[in-house]
Amino acid sequence: MSDISLVRGSVVEMEVDAIVNAANNSLLGGGGVDGAIHRAAGPELLAECRTLHGCDTGDAKMTKAYDIKNAKYIIHTVGPVYSGNDRDAVLLASCYTRSLELAYENGCKSIAFPGISTGVYGYPLNEAAQVSLQAIRKWLEDHKDVEMDVKLCCFRDAELSAYQAILPSA
Ligand code: AR6
Repeated sequence: MSDISLVRGSVVEMEVDAIVNAANNSLLGGGGVDGAIHRAAGPELLAECRTLHGCDTGDAKMTKAYDIKNAKYIIHTVGPVYSGNDRDAVLLASCYTRSLELAYENGCKSIAFPGISTGVYGYPLNEAAQVSLQAIRKWLEDHKDVEMDVKLCCFRDAELSAYQAILPSA
């Protein structure tokens, strides 16, 4: 049985098969959740990321988790910089779908997402919550035979509130 749950805290600390990173096109690190993941995983992560030659917006690539012992893999996805165009939602949904696909292809049964694009990239939290939840639900619906425990990791109160507004039972 697949499940979607809200969890308060840092994605770095989640006990899951794969944690997702809100990266940039270079995949060579940055601030926010990306910085926290690179600091916790250690320098070997950057070395592996250098071999990946970047990542397109809306796509995802996987690495090992190195010193982050509570997870096996890190899935690096690149969200859109919010522009207000319809394409933002397409790209953001694709981040979630591609991450789930990669997790599934690599035998993961649990995955933890931060709020992709909702920090430096400026995606409004309420809109991002709608888009991400819809994309995850659709993927789970299309993969009914797959077991995937999806944790939506809320670092700030505002992120939790945005999800709770549309997932009242969570
Ligand atoms: N765990 C979970 N969520 C977190 C954590 C954490 N440890 N730290 C921050 N957040 P951002 P973006 C939340 O800016 O908007 C980087 O420099 C945070 O509250 O990390 O996709 C990359 O290299 C926010 O809601 O990612 C890119 O250049 C959400 O994570 C750029 O930022 C995303 O904030 C990507 O921007």
